[in-house]
Amino acid sequence: MNAIYLTGFMGSGKTTVASALADELSLPVIDTDEQIVTKKGKDIPQIFEQEGEEAFRNYETEVLEELPVENIIISTGGGIILKERNRELMNRNGTVIYLHCDPYEIVRRLEGDSSRPLLEGENRKEKIENIFSKRLPLYREAQIEINTTAKSINDITNEIKTLIG
Ligand code: S3P
Repeated sequence: MNAIYLTGFMGSGKTTVASALADELSLPVIDTDEQIVTKKGKDIPQIFEQEGEEAFRNYETEVLEELPVENIIISTGGGIILKERNRELMNRNGTVIYLHCDPYEIVRRLEGDSSRPLLEGENRKEKIENIFSKRLPLYREAQIEINTTAKSINDITNEIKTLIG
C-alpha cells in the first residue's frame, strides 16, 4: 500500500487519527513535526524563533523526501501544504487525506495551547480564521477530504478505511 498522508489545520486531529488508523491497519505511523524535532534537536517554537518559518518549511520538505513511501501512515504539520514541492511529493508518493474541521471548532480545541508559534499573541481567533481561509484551497488539493468536525475518531478511521478500500 502507498503511504497515507494526513493533512489539515492545527488541531484538526491528524496525530490522533493517524495513530488510530495505524493501529487498525497494522502499519507504522510517523509524524513530520516529530521527525523535524528529532533531526534538528530543537522543538518547533525554538526552530521558528531561531531560524524562522522558511527554514521550518524546508525541513518539512527534507523529511518528506526521506520518509518511506509505502506501508506507512504519515501525520503532517498543518502548514506542509504551503510549499508546492510538498504537495507534489505527497500526491506523487501516496494518498493525501485532508481532515477538514470547522474553524470555530479549531478555535475551541486550541484554546490555551502555546505550542503553535503561528498562533501566539493577540487575536487568536482572527489569526486562525485568516490562516485557515488562505490555506483551504491548498488543503483541498488532497485526493480525499473528510469532514471531522463532529465525528468520533472511530467514525473517521472507518470512513478512511472505506474510502481507501
Ligand atoms: C504548523 C502546524 C504545526 C507545526 C508548526 C506549524 C502550521 O503542526 O508544524 O507549528 O503552520 O500550521 P500541527 O498541525 O500538528 O499543529
